[in-house]
Amino acid sequence: MWTEESTNAVQQIVTTLSVFCIVFVIRAWWNWQTAGLGLKSIPSKGSLGWPIVGESLSVIGCTGDFTFERWLRERIQKYGPMFKSHLFLKPSILMTTAEEVKFVLEDPHKQMRNGAPESLKRIFGSTSIFALEGEEHRHVYKILNDSILMPELKKKTSEFNRIMRHSLSSWDGNTLDILGAMQTIIFKLMTFNFFGIPWEGEIADRIASLLDTVVLGPTCLPFYFPGTDFYKASNAKRKVTEIVLPIIRQLRSAETGGTSKYASSAEKFPYQNLFDVKLNGKEISDTAVCDILMSPILTGGQGPGTVVGLAIYHLTNNPSMLQKAQAEVDQVRKQKEELGETDLSVSDLKDLKYLNQVYNEVLRISTIVPGGGRVALSDIHFNGHVIPKGWFMLAPFVLIHMDPELYPEPSKFDPDRFETPPNPGKFLPFGRGYRTCVGRDFTRLVVLMALYHILSNFTWDVVSCSGKLKYLPFVKMIGEFQLSFRSRTHLP
Ligand code: HEM
Repeated sequence: MWTEESTNAVQQIVTTLSVFCIVFVIRAWWNWQTAGLGLKSIPSKGSLGWPIVGESLSVIGCTGDFTFERWLRERIQKYGPMFKSHLFLKPSILMTTAEEVKFVLEDPHKQMRNGAPESLKRIFGSTSIFALEGEEHRHVYKILNDSILMPELKKKTSEFNRIMRHSLSSWDGNTLDILGAMQTIIFKLMTFNFFGIPWEGEIADRIASLLDTVVLGPTCLPFYFPGTDFYKASNAKRKVTEIVLPIIRQLRSAETGGTSKYASSAEKFPYQNLFDVKLNGKEISDTAVCDILMSPILTGGQGPGTVVGLAIYHLTNNPSMLQKAQAEVDQVRKQKEELGETDLSVSDLKDLKYLNQVYNEVLRISTIVPGGGRVALSDIHFNGHVIPKGWFMLAPFVLIHMDPELYPEPSKFDPDRFETPPNPGKFLPFGRGYRTCVGRDFTRLVVLMALYHILSNFTWDVVSCSGKLKYLPFVKMIGEFQLSFRSRTHLP
């Protein structure tokens, strides 16, 4: 039986425990909010949000009308251009002016490491380009970069044209989700480019469908439970590795005199340079080569398809621009026909002046990669502030692209603003500094080639457009953008 005394005692214990809990929560909250403030000159403005999750959920929620740019602007108005937050499980500093973005991306005193999300590093492997740092990063970056910049790409344009023409040959009379359709084509182009895998074969189809799942991974939390995107993406990546690893072994043996049916179609990818790389002082393993070659496919695989889809979207919504782009494409095609050519060559790209402007404007208005992230390896002194060791720095390019002083009426799609080529410091779709995108020339080539072939061969009607843009970590259309295509019968 409860006596009055025992009831009072229990009440006292409960009250004391509650007070302890409240004090504990307030202290934890205070510690969280003042983390790093011992360093006095850390930007004191900003909010670290909720314990553990910080402000990540409000950032992840940036879709549709609530853009990441709006999220940033609201805070800049409140706290100024450099402010603290807590993003993706790390205390963070947002550095938003052009000068701050440059500082983060160029890292002049080599005090930073890459801040790619944990899920990205775990799926792509410990030797993917995102996980490598210092000399190892520089070496591997150079090999990848040199292999897909313009001089090398020139050698591949006729095969790329063939892939495009073959893939588009079934579009007449069909309704397609343009983004999905483009994505498959780009994956095939890339597996051909990096592994020499014939794009018409069954292997390329299997890899392309697995890659559709792998690319879910980097955008999700790294929880390996059945049913999660991370789980599905990790397993799909393992299956791609199982397919690709024997090809890498064959290519390595071909470099030392053996034979490989892939070596001839690999079109001079500098595999030997890659096999010569030393990681941690040891000869590179086949799995590491595989991860290095897969990282551009996995990161870059979605970008060009998204740009083609968005270009078609904007042109469809602006008939006068569509007409202008089509007239330009028709003129280039006519000139080529007179010379007996059908392929779009690298030198033709400069004749597609308006299409280049459309391409730049898509990259500006929908900054596909909204920013670059780095982690401080030591306390970093910058403009009177100290960024503490271990803090994450985010440099968003999206604000530069939507700055009304640089781009009047920035939300308006207006390719004419690129009549003169963009100023590199004010146009950063591919970043800058020593981690600038290695796929920049590849993207321009394949996007313009895809638009050229689509515009010269088809007209289309919009069947459904339930698509909404999701902004982070990369711009992506979720939902459908279905078009029904018809061959152009009355070509000028
Ligand atoms: C619309 C298309 C694309 C956009 C907007 C884009 C944008 C970017 C940006 C901004 C970065 C730098 C991120 C940073 O500084 O942290 C980057 C890095 C990278 N991109 Fe792209 N990219 C695109 C397509 C591609 C393609 C097609 C490939 C491969 C063929 C590719 C491969 C890479 C790689 C490997 C890196 C990592 C470089 C490093 O960490 O050293 N990207 N990309």
